[in-house]
Amino acid sequence: MRCDTADGLRGWRPATEEALYGPSGFYRRPEGPAGHFRTSVHASPLFAGAVARLLCLVDEALAHPAELAFVDMGAGRGELVTGVLKALPSEVASRARGYAVERAARPAGVDHRIEWLPEPPPGVTGLLFANEWLDNVPLDVAEVDAEGTARLVLVREDGRESLGEPVAGAEAEWLARWWPLTGPPDGPLLLPEAPEGPLPLPEAPGGPFPAEDVRPPAEGRQGPGGQVPAEGLRAEVGLPRDAAWAAAVASLGRGLAVAVDYAHFAGARPPFGTLTGFREGRETAPVPDGSCDITAHVALDACALPGARLLSQREALGALGVSGERPSLGLASTDPSAYVRALAGAGEAAELTARGGLGDFGWLLQPVGIPDPLPGGEQPST
Ligand SMILES: C[S@@+](CC[C@H](N)C(=O)[O-])C[C@H]1O[C@@H](n2cnc3c(N)ncnc32)[C@H](O)[C@@H]1O
Repeated sequence: MRCDTADGLRGWRPATEEALYGPSGFYRRPEGPAGHFRTSVHASPLFAGAVARLLCLVDEALAHPAELAFVDMGAGRGELVTGVLKALPSEVASRARGYAVERAARPAGVDHRIEWLPEPPPGVTGLLFANEWLDNVPLDVAEVDAEGTARLVLVREDGRESLGEPVAGAEAEWLARWWPLTGPPDGPLLLPEAPEGPLPLPEAPGGPFPAEDVRPPAEGRQGPGGQVPAEGLRAEVGLPRDAAWAAAVASLGRGLAVAVDYAHFAGARPPFGTLTGFREGRETAPVPDGSCDITAHVALDACALPGARLLSQREALGALGVSGERPSLGLASTDPSAYVRALAGAGEAAELTARGGLGDFGWLLQPVGIPDPLPGGEQPST
């Protein structure tokens, strides 16, 4: 494995890049992501069905174009694009074109009509959907040292860490704006509480919000006693994810781009970060040797571009007709097999929308040249 320093230490971003996507990286393995963890795509076909309904809403907003693209960004083994194309009504399916964008090679058995690409196709019209992609875009990690300086965390191939240079330049600016590494001046570190209610992405009336509206400047966030950098606080520097998302959105000619991921938001960032590993269905220490997935939750509010909307998976799937409601007991006596099917569907829907689970995932909706097509997504009028 290539290293940037003689003692084998380098930042988490290059270490993760090689561990996941290098020649013998984790995502080059034949078993694919589903061999190690379950996403909403694997949890239930109801998910692909809901995304197919969203594609139909995008189709309507685009006035039924001759070619309607569905771009599965970070497609894994192409499970979502396959399921979405199957779930479309025949008239829409006849105009739909499926693209799987993946760094891993095309697996055998994917429908030959699905194009397998290393980059999103440029200028298409339709829906770009990125389920659990951004959490696998490698990033650097910063940690506050004993003097209160945020330093780059360096890591060896066996996972042992040391602190490196102070974070500087664009990374330092990103931290100051999106994830300030500060705590109270004295006493114990106060862990932020998860926000109640809708996800906190303020929107300016009438649509696009200026970047300044997303959250107050750093001074405005300081508590009454002032906030100081606290030793041991960690942050994941989301800059490469912001850039990756902006590039994916820019690839769309017109339509909707959606990123779905484990997310956190300004005011409730995890004080020690979320970098972790997954192997064979279990959470494990993140060791950048290609043996496990390395993932960190996404600062989705930092990724949001003007005109975006953030909501939870529970809200988004609810708007697309997926809810965990049990079928009525009356159905059990009139049509027992329909009742059993409906009960199984309700169980799967409950998993997709569960509090403390997949339902808490963030959905970032980014319309491009069309109004927000998801019900309840109209921009307020000025
Ligand atoms: C966690 S898996 C999610 C797979 C699938 N979307 C799902 O929800 O089941 C993330 C996938 O993103 C792919 N990936 C990461 N960065 C990528 C990039 N820049 N372009 C294309 N695919 C990428 C990885 O190879 C991996 O298959």
